[in-house]
Amino acid sequence: MRSSEREFVSEILGINEAGHMTIGGIDIPLLVEQYGTPLMVMDEEYIEDQCKAYRDALIKHYGENSLVAYAGKAFCTGYMYKILSRYGLGADVVSGGEIYTAKAADFDMSKLFFHGNNKTMQELRQALELGIGFFVVDNSEELELLNTLAGEMGKTAKILFRIKPGIDAHTHDYIKTGAIDSKFGLALETGEALSIIGRVQKLGNVEYVGIHCHIGSQIFESEPYEEAVKVMTSFIKEIFDVLGLETYELNLGGGFGIKYIPSHEPKTPEETVEKLCEELKKSLREKNLPAPRLIIEPGRSIVASAGITVYRVGSVKVIPGVRTYVAVDGGMTDNPRFALYGAVYEFELPEKVTEEKTETVSIAGRCCESGDMLGHDVKLQKAEAGDLLCTLATGAYCYSMSSNYNRLPRPPVVMVKNGTSKVVVKRESYEDLIKNDVF
Ligand code: LLP
Repeated sequence: MRSSEREFVSEILGINEAGHMTIGGIDIPLLVEQYGTPLMVMDEEYIEDQCKAYRDALIKHYGENSLVAYAGKAFCTGYMYKILSRYGLGADVVSGGEIYTAKAADFDMSKLFFHGNNKTMQELRQALELGIGFFVVDNSEELELLNTLAGEMGKTAKILFRIKPGIDAHTHDYIKTGAIDSKFGLALETGEALSIIGRVQKLGNVEYVGIHCHIGSQIFESEPYEEAVKVMTSFIKEIFDVLGLETYELNLGGGFGIKYIPSHEPKTPEETVEKLCEELKKSLREKNLPAPRLIIEPGRSIVASAGITVYRVGSVKVIPGVRTYVAVDGGMTDNPRFALYGAVYEFELPEKVTEEKTETVSIAGRCCESGDMLGHDVKLQKAEAGDLLCTLATGAYCYSMSSNYNRLPRPPVVMVKNGTSKVVVKRESYEDLIKNDVF
């Protein structure tokens, strides 16, 4: 098979003269020689292009009064914040740890949105101390606490409220967040949201600036977003009519789908943003509302397709009439998404990428746990012990959700760009694993 006949789920992947798979033009076996396995590789240019594409599309379709706030939870490291800074992006943070990482990377704190359904007192203090731009308040207890802490520290916290717009996006139950039965945010239907926002006027140390919603993740359709825009703009009008409060910030969250397998058909950032902005401008016109600043929070769609994970196959166990297990030297510790959500992926043997995928196999991780699988009944070239094996599109929610189960050290993250590679997160060592142990 010639390389031109192969199409991968991500455009950063290719095939070189040696018949090996490449990422960002670099031979994958060569990267493994240098860095070992398991290994996470990310294409920096792809991440940069996605950052620019969202930013430019927002400016084109809505104007300068807009911001792309990358959702840090997708992949949060110091180097990632450096990339975001280069392109003027903001970020969504959800913990003291993510805030600390941003600060350590000299990120502009005024561009951070602090999310979470149960921020601790310590985290709220840390965020106030560091001058975080916006607090996305989830519940009434948080509102009171934030007001008290801000008062004690002589600060005023700018707040948005997390709203459940009552939208049911078609995605996995665990990553669905917009409907009323969700642990996140305030309900519209019950009057909860309006009544809590009304309380702000009596509190001296918080300033109402806007509302936020996030309807779920890995969503391909534009309709749920258009629905969300209608609901949110109606609510902006209600807040003004009933409470006399003007809304300056409208944050519509993230959740834009990416291509994990060939049948996935995601929209480009330009298409996504255009649809969203057209609906928003229309809704604002119809309701005669001044245009708020528009914020979106893509996470997955900025980093997922930039990454791959490379493993070494240790064994191929054929159970006649049952299944074939191809075991790799990583698994749910570096990618828990199959175990958690039954997430689908494409797999390749990078040194045999020109061969047909004649086999149907299950990819097993190395943990002492039957559920430690990366995929069931997937198509693959014929694998043998010693082969390299890649999972594609692992740039989002893999490293950030990784663990040390079975005391497995986390793999390193290597960025490739312009034909060169560099480590941006080191491989964990055994010393790292025991550094907090008290003997
Ligand atoms: N904004 C908020 C408030 C969020 O909660 C999230 C994701 C995002 C933005 C970014 O969504 P994205 O553009 O990345 O879809 N661990 C799951 C995904 C959980 C998403 C949580 N919130 C997974 O691996 O699929």
